[in-house]
Amino acid sequence: MKSIAKKISLITALSLITTISVSAQDGEALFRSKCAACHSVGTSKLVGPGLAGISDKRTQEWLITWIKDSQKMIASGDLDAIAIFEEFNKSPMIPFSDLSDEEIISMLDYIKAENSGSDVTTSTEVETEEPVAVIEYTTEDIENGKMLFSGKKRFKNGGPTCIVCHNVTNNDIMVGGLLAKDLTNVYERLGEAGISAIVSISPFPAMANSYSGKPLTKNEVRELTAFFKYANKVSESQAKKSGFKLIAGGGILGLLIILGLVSILWKNRKKESTKKDIFSRQLKGNDSIES
Ligand code: HEC
Ligand code: HEC
Repeated sequence: MKSIAKKISLITALSLITTISVSAQDGEALFRSKCAACHSVGTSKLVGPGLAGISDKRTQEWLITWIKDSQKMIASGDLDAIAIFEEFNKSPMIPFSDLSDEEIISMLDYIKAENSGSDVTTSTEVETEEPVAVIEYTTEDIENGKMLFSGKKRFKNGGPTCIVCHNVTNNDIMVGGLLAKDLTNVYERLGEAGISAIVSISPFPAMANSYSGKPLTKNEVRELTAFFKYANKVSESQAKKSGFKLIAGGGILGLLIILGLVSILWKNRKKESTKKDIFSRQLKGNDSIES
């Protein structure tokens, strides 16, 4: 508990420091740590759209509101917000309500600076998307990924196993935590680039806290991605189990402690809005309809 409290106060201290002085350089660093997992500053799509020319496409006020809480903006009926949300298959962008206006502006300036010279004005222009290289995974990669995900094999740098917070429906592994999104079909939802970006950078606070100072290795990220690809492919044929079995059958102390900590973080998050709840429920519904 103590170390978590320490971590939290360290994070507050750090964010205080970043609020005090924000320059264009900070804009780059901020963008890299918070946004680059899902966005390029050019035109290519990762999880979200490439952000080249975004300041020409949207007003600064719109961008600040969006970045702080896109879901609230969508719920308020903003047509541009709804359109971009629908375009990206309703995969919601997480809120960054802790960022100050100055920090957001510094990131927007950084995006502008990166694109000065090229005349990209809107992201509706022809996408110069790099061809996606098809990565072939071996059965050994999949097997290793499965062991990493379920905790049979430890991460080299000591991060917690994913199954503590996430479930993947697969007959070979036990039921996972229900505190974060179900990852059975995450491969379909985010693809190769999205998964490895999220797993390497962890833009989600609860996840980032668990892996700070304990990054996964490149190879671990690759093996996990291999496992997600496989789990997605075979998901139709796997028996769905109830997540409650874990609580009845598990009882690993460390696991429970982590679950407790996560639920504290989780509750704080939940307070933000009930609309988000409704969204995620709808998203879950979507997942199950998807083939
Ligand atoms: C976990 C992935 C993820 C992260 C991290 C993320 N975004 Fe997004 N972002 C998205 C997705 C997906 C969309 C598309 C809209 C939607 O589905 O909600 C989006 C949309 C946007 C848009 C609207 C684009 C448009 O054409 O209107 C902006 C601006 C944006 N993000 C900026 C940021 C900034 C700045 C950060 C970092 C502070 C960030 N995003 C972090 C996933 C992410
Ligand atoms: C301490 C809890 C925790 C642990 C451990 C954890 N995650 Fe997460 N993860 C989260 C939370 C919270 C989110 C935010 C999305 C959500 O609301 O569920 C998330 C999101 C994700 C996403 C994005 C899902 C999506 O569809 O947007 C991926 C992919 C992911 N995690 C993979 C992993 C992998 C792989 C591991 C193991 C290396 C892992 N996570 C370990 C809590 C955790």
